[in-house]
Amino acid sequence: MADRLRSGSGRAPGKVILLGEHAVVYGRRAIAASIGQGLEVRLTEGRVPRLASPNGSGRLYEALARAARGFGIDGESLSIEVSSSLPQGVGLGSSAALSVALVRALADLLGAALDDGEAGARAFELEQVFHGNPSGIDNTVCAHGGLISFSRDRGFRPLACARPLPLVIAIGRAARETRRVVGALRERWQADRVRYEAVFDEIAALVERGEAALAAGDRRGFGAVMDANQDALARLGISTPELDEMAAFARAHGALGAKLTGGGGGGAVIALANGDASALAGAFQARGWRAFTSDIGPAASYSTYRSYPKQEPT
Ligand code: MEV
Repeated sequence: MADRLRSGSGRAPGKVILLGEHAVVYGRRAIAASIGQGLEVRLTEGRVPRLASPNGSGRLYEALARAARGFGIDGESLSIEVSSSLPQGVGLGSSAALSVALVRALADLLGAALDDGEAGARAFELEQVFHGNPSGIDNTVCAHGGLISFSRDRGFRPLACARPLPLVIAIGRAARETRRVVGALRERWQADRVRYEAVFDEIAALVERGEAALAAGDRRGFGAVMDANQDALARLGISTPELDEMAAFARAHGALGAKLTGGGGGGAVIALANGDASALAGAFQARGWRAFTSDIGPAASYSTYRSYPKQEPT
């Protein structure tokens, strides 16, 4: 009797950086949260490897080969299929979610145990394929889910959040790539470290204020910190006219605060709604921007994309 072909699947959520992107690459603390949108990877052993992914990326094979080597197999005979509710390449953690889901799928296929910490660590290796010089925040939040504070030297801790944040995520039209934006900022930093380090310190202070506002359930205070972070990101050269316009649009429509999220240079804006997030998302849509809502809060609210489908309660 022929052996049955093995298969495995794994999931992971996307993420938003609420405060502190880019400064986190330079050792400062940042706050991130997983979102309700995510992706699932399915792997099947077979003679003809096949790729079915909305990413359609050649880098996916490189990541698969690297991940498989980490588990002691070559991965050449694996077909990979990705299904996703997460917009790609707009700063919402699609590469980190893919990396986490991929290592979870491999562990599932091989029947190996893999906790969130190890999934995050293995995903970090893969992030270098997509990313260049990642801080580790994206793979960490996509692996653990929930709301976290992260720094390169201290790792992450889950954050207390007295009230969930009703967030709108709106997608700009311009294409971008995080590795390019991070690389260009590094060149500017190398040319004028004093100036850029001062802005990173400013952002670190905003992150501290943001953590206090979250713990106190002070949405208005958190929104003000988001606005100040957007201003600092613009001074780092990370924002664009469209992202500035979107943040201003959100504020004019009642948002408590708004900023770009993730790599910038295009991509997505997050806006903290003052009450009904779907009305604000609708306003973005009426102006032709793609937009959706996601409540931000503690880990429990993000169970959908955290574990293997098999482990989810039925
Ligand atoms: C990307 O989501 C966040 C950045 O700070 C890069 C990183 O931390 O790896 C821009």
